[in-house]
Amino acid sequence: MTVKHYLQFSDFTQDEYAYIMARTTELKRRFKAYETWHPLHDRTLAMIFEKSSTRTRLSFEAGIHQLGGHAVYLNTRDTQLGRGEPVEDAAKVISRMTDMIMIRTFGQDIIERFAANSRVPVINGLTNEYHPCQVLADIYTYIEERGDGKSLDAISGKTVAWVGDANNMSYTWIQAARVLGFHLNISTPEGYALDEQLIDPKDQPFYTVFKHPMDACKGAHIVTTDVWTSMGYEAENEVRMAAFKDFKVTANMMAVADSSAVFMHCLPAHRGEEVDTEVIDGEQSVVWQEAENRLHVQKAVMEYLLRGRFE
Ligand code: CP
Ligand code: NVA
Repeated sequence: MTVKHYLQFSDFTQDEYAYIMARTTELKRRFKAYETWHPLHDRTLAMIFEKSSTRTRLSFEAGIHQLGGHAVYLNTRDTQLGRGEPVEDAAKVISRMTDMIMIRTFGQDIIERFAANSRVPVINGLTNEYHPCQVLADIYTYIEERGDGKSLDAISGKTVAWVGDANNMSYTWIQAARVLGFHLNISTPEGYALDEQLIDPKDQPFYTVFKHPMDACKGAHIVTTDVWTSMGYEAENEVRMAAFKDFKVTANMMAVADSSAVFMHCLPAHRGEEVDTEVIDGEQSVVWQEAENRLHVQKAVMEYLLRGRFE
């Protein structure tokens, strides 16, 4: 039997996302109403972290618990993975003892090798190349804020502006643009442009590169950014601080966006670097909703991967 994984945004179809969005709304409603729903009773999620995390760890751990299951936290500092056990061997062992595995690691190749050797579904909790659970939460948040909280119609045909690094978040937004039918305007500093080798040629019609971030923001329905230095790139921090200084989301950028535009950031944020305080703490910001929704979209993904569709 083929095991279904969630390693990048393009692993699910538009039809699957339509189901997951509607299901997220239902799971969130049940949780808020204190209704018990334990479709993953007795199931165990292994969570492997090779990088730091607040939101991803907490949302997966609380999420599996709310679905009736249990989480085991593993990090490379105190597992044999950190002492050189091959990824393939670890995948074979961990997937014989658990029902699902979430991994936060460095290269996408690591999670691909892990998944190829796993008997159970593997979920990407962030790699250097992709962060699908975060973009899923962001798009769900947009649908909740500007649509009916269920239908993908709210995001279809819209424009998303990305200001900043060509990183795991921006490559995931590019994939999402094609799968869900919206357009991405992207503006990165010189020397930090997109690596086309990481982009499926089929995705190219769904994004446009702008030299100036202000131009990317014009008419956008979502303006989003991320840290200037992602985890794993800390040695470049000083050089990046200089290169990215004009790639900060400001109130002027929000002013040229659509009047209904929201500001998004996956967090953690650095006020005064990639975003001005008045924007991230302003009325158009939906950053806390994005963080909260990580919990509920991931419950929908976990339930779907292990149990399929419910309605
Ligand atoms: N946005 C996000 O993935 O946050 P953490 O690094 O805290 O998990
Ligand atoms: N691009 C950031 C996202 C953190 C959630 C990083 O990889 O560090």
